[in-house]
Amino acid sequence: MDKIVIEGGRRLEGEIRIAGAKNAALPALAATLLCPGKFVFSNVPDLKDVDTMIALLKVMGAVVKKEGGVVTVNTENIAHAEAPYDLVRTMRASCLVLGPLLARLGTSRISLPGGCAIGERPINLHLKGFQMLGAEITLEEGYVNANAPDGLSGQKIYFDLVTVTGTENLMMAAVGAKGTTVLENAAREPEIVFLAEMLNKMGADISGAGTDKIVINGGREMRAVEISIIPDRVEAGTFMAAAAITGGFLRLSGCDPSHIEAVTLKFVEMGCKITEGKDWLEITGGKRPHPADIETNPYPSFPTDMQAQAMAVLSVADGASVITESIFENRYMHVAEMRRMGAKILLKGKNAFVQGVDSLSGAQVMATDLRASASLIVAGLAASGKTHVRRVYHLDRGYEHIEDKLRKVGAIISRQPDKNPK
Ligand code: EPZ
Repeated sequence: MDKIVIEGGRRLEGEIRIAGAKNAALPALAATLLCPGKFVFSNVPDLKDVDTMIALLKVMGAVVKKEGGVVTVNTENIAHAEAPYDLVRTMRASCLVLGPLLARLGTSRISLPGGCAIGERPINLHLKGFQMLGAEITLEEGYVNANAPDGLSGQKIYFDLVTVTGTENLMMAAVGAKGTTVLENAAREPEIVFLAEMLNKMGADISGAGTDKIVINGGREMRAVEISIIPDRVEAGTFMAAAAITGGFLRLSGCDPSHIEAVTLKFVEMGCKITEGKDWLEITGGKRPHPADIETNPYPSFPTDMQAQAMAVLSVADGASVITESIFENRYMHVAEMRRMGAKILLKGKNAFVQGVDSLSGAQVMATDLRASASLIVAGLAASGKTHVRRVYHLDRGYEHIEDKLRKVGAIISRQPDKNPK
């Protein structure tokens, strides 16, 4: 097992190219199960979670090749509609195969995702939606069985809560349903818009993606396509936090600034200077961050996936900030670790009261989930002395060679074997 060691206190300067988005690549790969054919994806990020989704497709009979950032998926022979426990337990997004398999084969069996470090994260709204489209859902031995022997039929579905993968799963199932499906209170994330664009390119008839009402006219013939994965807005936001906390200058190329407006505005509030182009963004951090209050909410509000990284910056601000996490009930695991670095953070229910301190000091810290690990890296970049971030396997799930990218812009950072992983 590896750890990442950072010697903090260096101002970052330079250009970083943003990778393709994990949360766009995963549903796009799952969507290949909708029809037979050879799909070609470019700008695919080199991540653990992408490898897990590829392994899942292979278990089902797909032939998958990955060369650099290009992944080809041949789904001529999908014979096995089951997502096994050993894969699902490592990645909840495996549940995204349910919708496409139901649409194509009328049957699907997946291991029910268990608990997660950041929250309970049930998939009840996904299953409720499939039932409304006419699927029979049963649960046995930890597996969800979804069956629609007579096919699916279009329906009006209202989501009790805004759910990203729930919207994606139902959108893919509805493509294979007879008639029209309307998804109300749907998620509006850029990854949803991207998936709808891909499905329409395959032959579907979807309108309204990006709004809270999506209409899908199902039953159209689908074909394989070539498509490039959109940039990762969370990776871009993470590097903005790195620039803000080190008072540095970063040019982020290959990103889409229109996808991260809520994040950009918050960093401006913290005193950063930001200029943007169509596919680039430049950020200059101020001498010391200013405080800012943040509340996470579904897109286009401030994303929960940037909460921890923003907290790291606010932990050294010249004042107090209040952060409210409204999406996940247990997404403050990084707080205890930041306190070990000298941060002053008080938790009360959904709120974190962050009193900025003059400086952080390096320490041994433990990553608990993907974005928490990124926030500890960001904190380590500003801390005096060395920070050892352990259990970085969390990081590799969603960040492509982050230490190499940060070293290129001046960070003293390295990946080392963790001799004492416990
Ligand atoms: C997606 O997860 C992202 N993952 C998450 O990113 C992200 O944090 C989240 O959306 C919110 O933006 C992928 O896209 C692969 P939700 P998802 O369903 O779809 C509750 C990262 O760091 N809910 O929108 O699983 C749920 O518990 C990851 O890259 C139900 O109660 O999140 C949560 O409180 C972490 N029942 C809220 O809704 C359901 O059936 C929103 O979750 C579904 C969700």
